[in-house]
Amino acid sequence: MNDLQDLYAEVVMDHNRRPRNFKKIEGADRTADGFNPLCGDQISLYLNLDGDDSIQDIGYVAVGCAISKAAASMMSEAVKGRSLENAQRVVSEFRQMITDRDGHEPDYEIMGDLEILEGVANYPTRIKCATLPLHTLASAIDSENKKIVSTE
Ligand code: FES
Repeated sequence: MNDLQDLYAEVVMDHNRRPRNFKKIEGADRTADGFNPLCGDQISLYLNLDGDDSIQDIGYVAVGCAISKAAASMMSEAVKGRSLENAQRVVSEFRQMITDRDGHEPDYEIMGDLEILEGVANYPTRIKCATLPLHTLASAIDSENKKIVSTE
């Protein structure tokens, strides 16, 4: 393995061993459920807001593969404490990075550890694994009511 693959494996394993913000938030301000029909994996996401503007706390409970769980953990760190607008930017930068690069230079800084998943773009069957938590976050941000989203 080269250094980059080593780093990728190490960071993904670390987020799987010690998933950040893995918790249900009772009575959360916003929630959404995400589902990948290809494999049956799912995630429930919870947000508590500071006023209407920023994510004071985030939690999730997920059943999924290593990539989806690592993406959820990395995403939670990237958006906690951020405004909803910035959290939406994390989602759009990440989606663009791995699904529709088209000349766009990703804003790596805003994505935090999510940057390490850039290589997933080369494995189409894993793209939905990585985007499942981010689709779910976008749904939670967009709606004041509980929503269920699918990667299809
Ligand atoms: Fe189901 Fe990755 S295999 S989300």
